[in-house]
Amino acid sequence: MQIRPTPATLGATVVDVALADIDDNDWSTIQAAFLDYGLLIFPNQNLNEREQLKFAKRFGEIEVLAEGYTTIPISNKDERGEFYATNSDRMQQLRGNEGWHTDSSYMPLSAKASILSAKIIPATGSSTEWADMRAAYAALDPTIKQKIASLNAYHSYFYSQAKLGHKVEVGYGYGFFEGESPLHPMVKIHPVTNKPALYIGRHAGQIVGMELAESEALIDELMSFACQPPRIYTHQWGEGDIVVWDNRCLLHRAGVYDYSQERLMHHTRIKGDPASEAALNA
Ligand code: OGA
Ligand code: MN
Repeated sequence: MQIRPTPATLGATVVDVALADIDDNDWSTIQAAFLDYGLLIFPNQNLNEREQLKFAKRFGEIEVLAEGYTTIPISNKDERGEFYATNSDRMQQLRGNEGWHTDSSYMPLSAKASILSAKIIPATGSSTEWADMRAAYAALDPTIKQKIASLNAYHSYFYSQAKLGHKVEVGYGYGFFEGESPLHPMVKIHPVTNKPALYIGRHAGQIVGMELAESEALIDELMSFACQPPRIYTHQWGEGDIVVWDNRCLLHRAGVYDYSQERLMHHTRIKGDPASEAALNA
């Protein structure tokens, strides 16, 4: 197995390994690289759903994303093979994924890791991008570090989608901030590496003890600073590629593509550890 770091502060491409068939030695190497690089890209693995789930289970317990699904299709086509309408809930969810976020931060237990594999990719291309929130935190001005050290923010899917003009129906997401939305520290200490990372993203809006406008301005400022080279890495998908990333210290976003062409990804999400990923108010 060869691990090739990207030129950015995060991410590595892993080659000369058959992921469907790894032993415990390979797993130790992969696990250590996952903690170091935050993002691992395995080109051209062509895992089936069972193999993807088996690999995902190496990282921990699986988060159920929709009733009955441990791995879900992320696609712009429905089960009948029809493209979703532009204003459909599904397309609005997909467009939502184009904003920097960390998975399930709006849930009582946020995600540890996520796995995404490419099944069908538009001929004109499709990408996903990741940003390193450890490097971002490390590069912050000491006065900003001090300012955010003890700040907590509410994360809400209702909020992040509403900003895009998408009204999430009651019962799907969580309430709008105070009371119901999960609350997370803006600086997250990684439970394994102990490295601090900015923990924000598009679901974070309201900071406790601040006006909404002031909260949004601070989060915007931090996000624009954080999601810049050398802290970002873009992967152009090839069919059969599979990637895994650490949601505890990275943000990600889907690249815009030609929605008149089919894109099908398989997504598996690994649950956070209740000791470190439960919301402060869960
Ligand atoms: C996700 C996600 C990005 C993509 O599935 O959580 O953000 O490129 N996907 O599809
Ligand atoms: Mn996501």
